[in-house]
Amino acid sequence: MKIEVLRIGQRIVRDDRVTTHVALVARSFGAHKIYMNEVNPDIEKTISDINKTWGGNFKIEIISDWKKIIRERKNTGVKIVHLTMYGQNINNIEAKIRNEDKILIVVGAEKVPREIYELADYNIAVGNQPHSEVSALGVLLDRIQQGKQFESKFENSERVIIPQEHGKNVMVNKTTD
Ligand SMILES: C[S@@+](CC[C@H](N)C(=O)[O-])C[C@H]1O[C@@H](n2cnc3c(N)ncnc32)[C@H](O)[C@@H]1O
Repeated sequence: MKIEVLRIGQRIVRDDRVTTHVALVARSFGAHKIYMNEVNPDIEKTISDINKTWGGNFKIEIISDWKKIIRERKNTGVKIVHLTMYGQNINNIEAKIRNEDKILIVVGAEKVPREIYELADYNIAVGNQPHSEVSALGVLLDRIQQGKQFESKFENSERVIIPQEHGKNVMVNKTTD
């Protein structure tokens, strides 16, 4: 399944750490690309550094018009999956989403614009209590890929972790310059 993520920010105070965590979860849990608005552009370098060190080809694009992204994706058959505590219980809908070919997962930062609820093909709740876009995204990506995302290889990395029962073991493929 081709998975992209759109994070719509409306925070007056920028929250760089949460923004970075949304992108890191998207990358490490198997999404291909994230679109973000209203973010500190330094995040592009952060993700590029992570890709260089830890591999893969995860993409990030800073956008200004989130509606355009949603419309374009909808026109090419991508299903829009909006994460919201007001949506349908993830337990009842996850199997249906697993059958989709291409999805764009939308998460908010603060309050999301009302139109999203109508534009979305699925409004999904990870429980009906408020928590965080980081946790909601992680749970959804895991439910739809059923853990398979943790078996995929991140190609061309400088470093590869060799899992250990205790301690740390990191294989260094290339010397850093
Ligand atoms: C800090 S919350 C904002 C909550 C806010 N009350 C709202 O209008 O949705 C930021 C984002 O986290 C995600 N989120 C938070 N709780 C969730 C839940 N229970 N289920 C699904 N997504 C959730 C949504 O994408 C939301 O836009």
